[in-house]
Amino acid sequence: MKVRHPGRPPLVPVLVGYGRAGRDLHHHSLRTLAEEGALATGQVLVVDPVRRDDLPHDARWAPDLAAAVAALPEPDRGVFHLTMPAGQRLHALRQLLAAGARRFIVEKPLAPSAHEARQLLALADSAGAQLIPMSVWPSSAVTQEVVGMLRAGRVGRPRSLRIEQHKPRFRRGLDDAAHSSALQIEMPHQVLLALYLCGTPCRLTAGDVWPLPLPDALVPALGGARIGLVHGGPEDAEVTSTLVSDLTSPVRMRRLRLTGTEGEIVAHYPTGGDDPYGQLQVVGEESRRIIPDAPLTRLIEDAYRFHLGEGPRPPGTDPALHLAAMDLLDAAKAAAHARGAAMETPVPHRSREAESC
Ligand SMILES: NC(=O)c1ccc[n+]([C@@H]2O[C@H](COP(=O)([O-])OP(=O)(O)OC[C@H]3O[C@@H](n4cnc5c(N)ncnc54)[C@H](O)[C@@H]3O)[C@@H](O)[C@H]2O)c1
Repeated sequence: MKVRHPGRPPLVPVLVGYGRAGRDLHHHSLRTLAEEGALATGQVLVVDPVRRDDLPHDARWAPDLAAAVAALPEPDRGVFHLTMPAGQRLHALRQLLAAGARRFIVEKPLAPSAHEARQLLALADSAGAQLIPMSVWPSSAVTQEVVGMLRAGRVGRPRSLRIEQHKPRFRRGLDDAAHSSALQIEMPHQVLLALYLCGTPCRLTAGDVWPLPLPDALVPALGGARIGLVHGGPEDAEVTSTLVSDLTSPVRMRRLRLTGTEGEIVAHYPTGGDDPYGQLQVVGEESRRIIPDAPLTRLIEDAYRFHLGEGPRPPGTDPALHLAAMDLLDAAKAAAHARGAAMETPVPHRSREAESC
């Protein structure tokens, strides 16, 4: 892919938030694409209130958004990766649009609430800006294989889906400024994947979170989450999804199990960028396929292609799908809250007379 267009300055990545997502994921993927010759971005601009002494040689720090925009050849030549905590994005987007920025890649979850996500998308739309929400699993080669198998009828009609994303996350849970609930960590990826595979309309049947237990602390809502969904309207055959994320698990796992009327697919996604391979098996068949898979890097490549006008919207980045996911995450949060409140309500003492009724 060529980033340079004749007569136009190249696109410049601007990482707004240089923590785990900005530094370890987005910048890492941009470097991989440069090494592959797919994207020639050179030095990236970094905007973060915290200036790091150990900034890599291929990153240039800008103290604020205005300084980042001023460092670009033209404001609309920047691709702004909004990789700071979700609650900071609406304000930043407003500032950037006013300064002439028009190209964005936005981390998950889009915003702290569905209401704010709608505001964010409407703001971008009204300015004629292009915004790509992060849709990691739809860009996965494993997912695309699963989609192909479903279309080919390999397991019949889908009936249920189970997506598990587990990992130990004790240290980050103790000191996490970016997340307040396990519904914001792996779950946005899981809900989006469920909607991508099994579609909308979709309604919530269960939502729960639990605390992260440490030897001397109990961190509320960061130990894990569970969501139940039903996909399909009244005239459709329903598909149920169960999504579980255990952030106290001793092992890392990203597994999808899709059960159809005539069989079952089990897929394992890569558990980290250090080993970019997934696995796929039809239950009962001997062979297990190993699939090269680097979904985040593919998504970023496709997003740049789209921003250059050289490719379609990457899979699963339709804003409507993301808003549907945000609505379900909000509903799950409300359900988890109601469940927590119910569990905290003391059960009234029942008298002997009442017991004998
Ligand atoms: N796609 C993924 O797999 C993935 C993985 C990790 C995190 N994330 C998402 O990325 C977001 C950030 O998470 P993180 O783990 O990187 O958090 P983090 O705490 O590691 O990093 C956040 C960074 O943003 C900076 N920041 C805060 N406010 C800012 C502002 N207004 N402008 C610029 N920078 C600002 C902080 O100084 C910090 O360096 C979250 O929404 C998270 O869910 C996604």
